[in-house]
Amino acid sequence: MKKLLAVILVSIMILGLGACGTPEETSSSPDASPAASSPESSSSSSPDVSAKGMLIGVGMPTQSLQRWNEDGANMKAQLEAKGYKVDLQYANNDVNTQVSQLENMILKGCKILVIAAIDGSALTNVLNNAHNAGIKVIAYDRLIMNSPYVDYYATFDNFKVGVVQGKYIEKNLGLKDGKGPFNIELFAGSPNDNNANYFYKGAMSILDQYINNGKLVVSSGQKDFAKIAIQDWDSAKAQARMDNLITANYAGGKKLDAVLSPNDSLAIGIVASLKNAGYGTDSKPYPILTGQDCDKPNVKAMINKQQSMSIFKDTRTLATKVVEMVDAILTGKEAPVNDIKTYNNGSKVVPSFLCDPVFADASNYKQILIDSGYYKESDLK
Ligand code: GAL
Repeated sequence: MKKLLAVILVSIMILGLGACGTPEETSSSPDASPAASSPESSSSSSPDVSAKGMLIGVGMPTQSLQRWNEDGANMKAQLEAKGYKVDLQYANNDVNTQVSQLENMILKGCKILVIAAIDGSALTNVLNNAHNAGIKVIAYDRLIMNSPYVDYYATFDNFKVGVVQGKYIEKNLGLKDGKGPFNIELFAGSPNDNNANYFYKGAMSILDQYINNGKLVVSSGQKDFAKIAIQDWDSAKAQARMDNLITANYAGGKKLDAVLSPNDSLAIGIVASLKNAGYGTDSKPYPILTGQDCDKPNVKAMINKQQSMSIFKDTRTLATKVVEMVDAILTGKEAPVNDIKTYNNGSKVVPSFLCDPVFADASNYKQILIDSGYYKESDLK
């Protein structure tokens, strides 16, 4: 009965719109009025009638990494399927570009901004402006720092990502069984990305004990975050650092047994460096090498035994969660969160939803990546 009433009401409102433009025109304007919604919006799987047709801004860092393309595409498709309009922008890893894209979204009348920040600490002003315009903000994957105006955070459990990487190294070197000593070098992500610290701390929560008891040897001595962090998650910078580490510490037949890489773009650079240094033969196999994102080139590298594992963050799952948050905010419901204590951004603890990360490697990638429909077998040829 209620549904029927809603349909009738919306129909009357649409008819009443005649004077100020067709529903079509009105709904294509960024400030789409609630009345522009179609009667279908009363279906129970869609957001409230009043939320449909609203513009959602989605700010992504870069198209240079595959994952962000997937994230953006999934967000756009899932939001549009719910009847929202989407302004999706990529900022070429340039902070100023991202700030001006977000300012534009505010001007265009976006109701919510979903932001995967390039520099988590560079958005305080733009978030002030969003707040003044009554816009809610969801931090996507990366926390936005130093602003009280981050309403929600949706991500994968970042500390756990590091733990899974650390445990993979622990297990595959047999460290728990007392094996060793092994040679390892450590890499961390971009210092302006809050996630990078969590990945590092999670991994070190497993590896530190073995460094301390001598079963893992970091010949370079470089293990502090600041020393091992790679600005902008840049593959070329990771390759250059690995080159330097090899030249300075692994001359004369001394081999690396493991390399901690927090993500796939770094792993790409590390593999290139290892390859140039003669790794990849029977007598000098690639060290155990971690990663994150399951980007296609990296899954291929896993199949080719150049990279050992990669954390799989199913971008479909994350997008689904964020779309649920968007729906909830715009319809006055409770947004889904499962953590209200971990992510303090310097201004507040941001209510978060943490998805569970799993790893893929050569032994399980078919099940994790192909059976789940994330990739087709042909994507990995
Ligand atoms: C992190 C993200 C990782 C990885 C990295 C590089 O913030 O959590 O999954 O993609 O950025 O873009």
